[in-house]
Amino acid sequence: MAAPMVSACASLGAGGSSDPMAPLPHDPDSYAQPDVARVKHVALDLKADFTRKVLRGTATLDIVARAGATEIVLDVDGLAIGSVSGNGRELQYAIGAAQPDHGAPMTIQIGDARQITIAYETSPGASALGWMEPAQTSSGKQFLFSQGESIYTRSWVPTQDSPGIRQSYEARIVAPEGLRAVMSAEMLTPDGEPAEGGRAYRFRMMHPIPCYLFALAIGDLEHRAISHRTGVWAEPSIADAAAYEFADMERMLRTAETLYGPYRWGKYEVLVLPPSFPYGGMENPRLTFATPTAIAGDRSLVALIAHEMAHSWSGNLVTNALWVDSWLNEGFTTYIEARIDEALYGEERANMARALDWAGIQRAIQAGPPDATRLHLLHPTDEQPSAITYDKGALFLRTIEQTIGRRQIDAYLRSYFNRHAFQPMTTDLFLADFREHVVKGDAALEARLKLNEWAYEPGLPSNAVEPHADAFDRVAAEVTAFNAGGPVSAVPWASWGTFERQRFLQTIPRQQQAARLDEMEAALQLNELGNMEVLFDWLKIAIANHCDASVPSLEHFLKRQGRSKFVRPLYTDLMRDGWGQPIARRVYAEARPMYHPLVSAALDRLVTRR
Ligand code: BES
Ligand code: ZN
Repeated sequence: MAAPMVSACASLGAGGSSDPMAPLPHDPDSYAQPDVARVKHVALDLKADFTRKVLRGTATLDIVARAGATEIVLDVDGLAIGSVSGNGRELQYAIGAAQPDHGAPMTIQIGDARQITIAYETSPGASALGWMEPAQTSSGKQFLFSQGESIYTRSWVPTQDSPGIRQSYEARIVAPEGLRAVMSAEMLTPDGEPAEGGRAYRFRMMHPIPCYLFALAIGDLEHRAISHRTGVWAEPSIADAAAYEFADMERMLRTAETLYGPYRWGKYEVLVLPPSFPYGGMENPRLTFATPTAIAGDRSLVALIAHEMAHSWSGNLVTNALWVDSWLNEGFTTYIEARIDEALYGEERANMARALDWAGIQRAIQAGPPDATRLHLLHPTDEQPSAITYDKGALFLRTIEQTIGRRQIDAYLRSYFNRHAFQPMTTDLFLADFREHVVKGDAALEARLKLNEWAYEPGLPSNAVEPHADAFDRVAAEVTAFNAGGPVSAVPWASWGTFERQRFLQTIPRQQQAARLDEMEAALQLNELGNMEVLFDWLKIAIANHCDASVPSLEHFLKRQGRSKFVRPLYTDLMRDGWGQPIARRVYAEARPMYHPLVSAALDRLVTRR
């Protein structure tokens, strides 16, 4: 058995717990030494310089430290430090050697100072910051956005960048005249205040959060209210479409509250980003950041909002203490997403999503290696949303639900979020908590649940139940007819939703005759699909078959959005052989400036190597 047990009543440091120095597990992705000194609060005063693509100003840190501590270690990546001061004098500091992706340790001699101010400037290549030129936005104005998860906040804020170290924050941000700043925090000055060289916006997040949730965007933004506490922010030309697409937000929030207890963050709003935003969504508190490709026009991708909203409980309230346990954020959230989806849109639709996820888990297990199919990861991985962290994680909770009953798991999760609110979590601690509150020493139940096997072993335990969706039986019948040579025009494509279409494209054999692909394209107009998930499934088939007719559509897809989940697998497939490589290189050369630094860093290795 891989992991040691901790005592059942144990709780990890920070947040609501009374001891601000409560012990934390060692985080190999951070240089911080939280047992010596911790950052509790960050106050930013920054000005955005779009010409130089830098943020410049100060960060004032409130620190708690163990008695006699005289230094603090922060994480920094590419920051140009002007000075550090505390207790009215200049403080000595040293920046150590940098490691790939992790930046460097910054050790400050704080002496007895418990509040320090760092004057600094970010680098134009800061990994967390996307600086968009007018041509890359729908308003034709500049746009800046940050992306902190998982370890990128250190490239724009000098602080302790470990998800177990919770910090409240406040900020004053000066944006150029005509642009507005928004953050993952209460907005104290909706219209800004006059400031030198622009307008100043002030913010406050009173709850302690992990600093990967610090988030800033600056752009030509308009607001549309959806309810008294939900709404959208978007560039003017897409604000109405966004408000239409996400109209169900208040209903979703009420559903989540009924299941898991009150929403604790006040407002829930969504910011629509430019197409180079590298994720589908990012759960920044009070202000989810979302890809514009979520606006399909027919509300068919709103599960993405349910997912980010669900993180308001799993992730933002109770947070993985280490990135090797990110299934505690993403697996729980994927489970909750399906529960919200089911409550709002019915069981059949949720079952289709679960069945697609099951197939994804099977593919991940077949692709191996086995070590990569554990929930508690052996090493922190790269950033790709994975079928294991997300879908095996969700299936674990679904298996618990099927074993102990829905009422019981709902009651347990509600109490789990309450008892651990604003605190970090580990796999060990979750299992101990679940045993204390649910299993209670019942050996037969323990044996049926296979908790340790789920959490620590590769593959799927034998109590995993394959989800079933009736609608997919009908899709299977269509796939059989298609495989027997039946005409594509007989496929009831028009009557299918996103999930049936995905199921069809994911189940037909990867290898198809050229004539068959032409027939599919003509009958289903696949290259014109508005729904990115379905189009992505089609383009994968097209690449596998060297389908020249789909290259313009593929090219358009790769150039009009920069979502990591879509672009990385497509470039990977293209780079597999001599047909795809020249296409990948040509398209990438043109599309690269549009991609976020996190995505282009990965694609540089993939496409431009050799
Ligand atoms: N928190 C993630 C995004 C993320 C994951 C950022 C890992 C950095 C590292 C977010 O909640 C998410 O899961 N987004 C998904 C969409 C979702 C509907 C599955 C995405 O971007 O694809
Ligand atoms: Zn997520």
